[in-house]
Amino acid sequence: MYELRGIRKVFAGGEAALDGVSLAVGRGEHVAFVGPSGAGKTTLFRILNLTLRPTAGTLVLDGRDVAGLSDAELRRARTRIGTIYQRQNLVGRLRVVHNVLAGNLGRWSTATALASLVRPRGAEEAARALEQVGMPEKLWARTDELSGGQQQRVAIARVLVQNPDVILADEPVSSVDPSLAVTIVSLLRDLSHERRKTLLMNLHSVELALAYFPRIVGIRDGRIHFDLAPARVTRELLAELYAGHRDDELQLERLQDGTRPFGGACRPLPGFAE
Ligand SMILES: Nc1ncnc2c1ncn2[C@@H]1O[C@H](COP(=O)(O)OP(=O)(O)OP(=O)(O)O)[C@@H](O)[C@H]1O
Ligand SMILES: [Mg+2]
Repeated sequence: MYELRGIRKVFAGGEAALDGVSLAVGRGEHVAFVGPSGAGKTTLFRILNLTLRPTAGTLVLDGRDVAGLSDAELRRARTRIGTIYQRQNLVGRLRVVHNVLAGNLGRWSTATALASLVRPRGAEEAARALEQVGMPEKLWARTDELSGGQQQRVAIARVLVQNPDVILADEPVSSVDPSLAVTIVSLLRDLSHERRKTLLMNLHSVELALAYFPRIVGIRDGRIHFDLAPARVTRELLAELYAGHRDDELQLERLQDGTRPFGGACRPLPGFAE
């Protein structure tokens, strides 16, 4: 699906945010990215969702070099990529149904989009998506009256309506409490698996990454520090990854070697070898 060769990104006046990232991600694969603040994870995701151009290096999407795409091809390619952000980019004053149907915006004309604000076009589709994220009763609720976790689920429902080939989730659970974080990460994982979507997630919590993803990429200082199955991610590697980042070092102290986080709560997916 994705192939990156020597991707580098330098922002004006800054050091390299990404410095030679090479990586391949297959269709339907699930990958978690971890690493300290400022490592370059969001920058990488913005390059992967085609909203940021790399300074150097090659990004290949489905066999085509993205640098060679026309503006129209680039727009079309973007509709196949769904992004979920830490802050969900929802319009608070609108009802949930409208925010969920915004997943169609890449396909709709401006006139259709405006008409849908008066009379939601495809409200049944929004209702189905909301049912899948476990809150069918919130279809007509005002979005800004929902809790943070409920809003995060609206953002997931919107991506389900968009129906992209790849879902990029950038720290989707950093603003919700830990038990809800587990629910949302496993929901995204299970829905992506059922619909055979590629799922890439940036996670602050190493524990969640190890419990729910078959492949973990550690990023530090704009480079890939490791790219391994969770069982091979050692304490030493994690300590190196987060060295000098006090808060992250503290979360590592809670992780124990050889034990699976969350005990039996983690249901491995069929077909994913550890
Ligand atoms: N638009 C921008 N302009 C200038 N510098 C930027 C911009 N976006 C990111 N950077 C810089 O690039 C580096 C990587 O930032 P990035 O947001 O990718 O890190 P991150 O790994 O996502 O961190 P966090 O875990 O805190 O979200 C940082 O040094 C940051 O200051
Ligand atoms: Mg970030």
